[in-house]
Amino acid sequence: MHKVLIAYFSRTGKTEKMANLIAEGIRFTGNEAIIRKISEITSDSLLEGYDGYIFGCPTYHRDMTAGMKTFLFMAERVNLLGKIGGAFGSYTHSGEASPMIYDTMKFVYKMDTTDLGPLSLKEALIETHDGVKACQDYGKAIGEMFKK
Ligand SMILES: Cc1cc2nc3c(=O)[nH]c(=O)nc-3n(C[C@H](O)[C@H](O)[C@H](O)COP(=O)(O)O)c2cc1C
Repeated sequence: MHKVLIAYFSRTGKTEKMANLIAEGIRFTGNEAIIRKISEITSDSLLEGYDGYIFGCPTYHRDMTAGMKTFLFMAERVNLLGKIGGAFGSYTHSGEASPMIYDTMKFVYKMDTTDLGPLSLKEALIETHDGVKACQDYGKAIGEMFKK
């Protein structure tokens, strides 16, 4: 069994819902999903020791939040080279945050990021059947990467 950390920020709960559904998908594949708010990850050691990492942040002002930027600098200090990775986030109209996080994971940390790219979901979709399935499938696909 592999351990995946899902670390996220959510102001109004939409990205948090995505985090919980992605965790379900990871667990469907027999792996362990640990969900944490980024505010709970207060030291490098709390970020170390996982086999996979999925980071989530909604888009505000066409950007990720300041807290997520600080968190990504912390993640830079931890060696995530080759670790499995993915990114997600809720948005209403532009959705820049999760692609930016995904690109940082792929090009800066040089992680083994999912070929699916980031999962950006319009907030109106999250509680629909399609939205729930998209999140669960994203988690499943990342869980399946450990079998390769
Ligand atoms: C002040 C403000 C600015 C926002 N800016 C953007 C934006 O630039 N692009 C976008 O797609 N959504 C934007 N949104 C919408 C949020 O991304 C959306 O409500 C999201 O679902 C919130 O996720 P959360 O519940 O996880 O915080 C904005 C919302 C607020 C309140």
